[in-house]
Amino acid sequence: MSEAANHTIKQLGAHTGQTVTLSAWLTDKSGKGKIQFLKLRDGTGFVQATVFRGDVSEEVFEAAKRLTQEQAVRVTGEVRADERAPGGVELSVRDLSPISENVGDYQITPKEHGIEFLMDHRHVWLRHRRPWAILRVRDCVQRALADFFHQEGFIRFDAPFFTPNAAEDTTELFEIDLFGEDKAYLSQTGQLHAEAGAMAFGKVYTFGPTFRAEKSKTRRHLLEFWMIEPEVAPSNHAENMNLQERMVSFMVSRVLEECQTELELLGRDTSKLRGAAEGHYPRITYTEALDIIRKHIEERDLPPNVQADVQPVEWGDDLGAPHETILGYHFDRPVMVEKYPVGIKAFYMQPDPSDPGVALCDDMIAPEGYGEIIGGSERIHDYELLRSRIEAEKLPLEDFDWYLDLRRFGSVPHAGYGMGLERAIAWITGIDHIREAIPFPRMLTRMRP
Ligand code: 4AD
Ligand code: MG
Repeated sequence: MSEAANHTIKQLGAHTGQTVTLSAWLTDKSGKGKIQFLKLRDGTGFVQATVFRGDVSEEVFEAAKRLTQEQAVRVTGEVRADERAPGGVELSVRDLSPISENVGDYQITPKEHGIEFLMDHRHVWLRHRRPWAILRVRDCVQRALADFFHQEGFIRFDAPFFTPNAAEDTTELFEIDLFGEDKAYLSQTGQLHAEAGAMAFGKVYTFGPTFRAEKSKTRRHLLEFWMIEPEVAPSNHAENMNLQERMVSFMVSRVLEECQTELELLGRDTSKLRGAAEGHYPRITYTEALDIIRKHIEERDLPPNVQADVQPVEWGDDLGAPHETILGYHFDRPVMVEKYPVGIKAFYMQPDPSDPGVALCDDMIAPEGYGEIIGGSERIHDYELLRSRIEAEKLPLEDFDWYLDLRRFGSVPHAGYGMGLERAIAWITGIDHIREAIPFPRMLTRMRP
């Protein structure tokens, strides 16, 4: 066996008619008598390898028959074009040798398994097609975002994970005991530190895990999720919304370009992503959103996953998941809902000078029931106003003294937003629960593996 040749399954299409060698794992096997069909994977893709008794030595044929699921194997074979095969090629095996021995039986057999069983075995489930496709889209999204922000002149600016203060809902903080001497919190958002970065570098983004002690068990919530948070100074609410639209359409276009195989494997209807890739996202106010929601409820024109007894939203109340689902159903692409009542949004949001009851903020709501994927705003830049908002929210002023410094020196209007990575991936891949959009989800009911 030639040592030099080491191909990957992804490249095989370019080698039809040639003999190649690759290292792979067996995912499944069938056949009898003179023929064995080996389903192989190597991380880059999946391919079927056929072993004919007449083509190989007796030892090789017997070795193929003895292979068990997930055993690692080195295979040499001829690449043959086959239109019916996913990826368009098959392998005719000439030589083969196992390179690992399994200890015991592999748990995820080719039969159907329930989601809890699969999640309990997430460490090995990752090897299977569905997680493979979703997590490759995740990688594509992360690269797209890095390219987008680089191209827009941003620098990546990393925020700490241990923070001294709350930034979003104080009831959702994970507290860390610092040896009985002090306490810190796991970061809910990188935003406050990103604001310091924006004052230093103009355009920055933070990207890392964030933590929310939310006891809600929904399809949209994780205890630990990744958030990308651009922050720009100087900037304003309108520019902030433009940036969101450019970013999301760039990201979706990139996935449509690069991840055809993955989306197809997941059965994603990509026509539903076309509007998002194009841009021109509708922008409506919170007040207009309430009217659209009320109208759909009155006319009983509801998406299938919304309960018939859904109530309209009273002005001043937050939108619930069913309301966001109705909004997503009304539009064929993401919609940006702006100017929510000040009372239901975070303390740092700039009130609208022409209508101080609402904030210069927006949420981006994804279509097809995926709900809010982005939350952002212009930030209060006036020292006295910010100080009074911190006091009004009964937040400890001393913990925010550093944050107030940003308003003491050279303060300008600035703005930013956060996109939950897993929410965006769940929407793009069309999966029905956020837990599959991250390698190892952390939820109330899941800390292992
Ligand atoms: O709307 P949120 O709470 O906004 C912020 O944290 C701001 N500080 C961001 C900023 O302006 N820099 O969260 C932003 C996004 C949400 O739109 C959602 O996509 C995601 O983070 N998110 C969650 N994703 C998964 N699980 C959770 N528990 C989430 N909570 C928020
Ligand atoms: Mg939000």
